[in-house]
Amino acid sequence: MTADSPPFSPTPLHDLDYNATKRLYQATFSVMEDKNFVYAWKHRNRTSSVGIWEGGALLGAVLVRGEQLEYIFVSAYHQGCGLGKILLESVLDKHPTLYLIPVKDPRVIRWYETYGFRIIGETITHAGTEICMVRSPNGFCPPGILPPNLPIQLLPRTTARGPCRLLKRKPLRRPPSHSQIGGGPRHG
Ligand SMILES: CC(C)(COP(=O)(O)OP(=O)(O)OC[C@H]1O[C@@H](n2cnc3c(N)ncnc32)[C@H](O)[C@@H]1OP(=O)(O)O)[C@@H](O)C(=O)NCCC(=O)NCCS
Repeated sequence: MTADSPPFSPTPLHDLDYNATKRLYQATFSVMEDKNFVYAWKHRNRTSSVGIWEGGALLGAVLVRGEQLEYIFVSAYHQGCGLGKILLESVLDKHPTLYLIPVKDPRVIRWYETYGFRIIGETITHAGTEICMVRSPNGFCPPGILPPNLPIQLLPRTTARGPCRLLKRKPLRRPPSHSQIGGGPRHG
């Protein structure tokens, strides 16, 4: 890909794209199996979950479920070329308000911050303690965006304009498994 390359347009991911998407996901995150990925795929928003293709090869994809950005990934070879920006902006056009659980990588967290995501607190998932980020046009955490099964420990002064007013501090405990609730946060 060069500066002269044509612009890449994200297109909705179809059911037939599952294998290509799963392969890219597994290669990017160095994982073999992930029930959360399968669940996110099945329940993805069919309009805003999109991929970028070049000559039949999937270069990057984003999965959205409800108000959660579940997964975004770009092939290792194409990272840093602007594909992530195209994918994320495509999602934000349709979902100006979103939350996500980012990977523990300061570069990725800073990347999300440039798009208006703010750390609002910590949660416990099956993967352990993770941070939760929210993005909304006015900087506040809107009512009802976080699912009731996501326990959040708010961090002080963590949103753009103060703490999320609609969430109450609760003791954190490990949430029920997917088989019990049918979903959970992963790898925004
Ligand atoms: C995070 C990710 C989706 C961003 O996509 P991308 O196409 O690399 O991002 P862009 O080219 O649009 O933007 C690059 C910016 O992101 C930052 N960045 C974050 N992680 C990066 C990475 N692994 N490689 C390159 N740049 C990265 C860079 O600092 C860069 O900022 P700059 O433009 O100010 O220099 C992509 O790097 C990726 O798939 N990473 C591995 C999977 C992952 O961590 N997904 C997020 C889970 S929460």
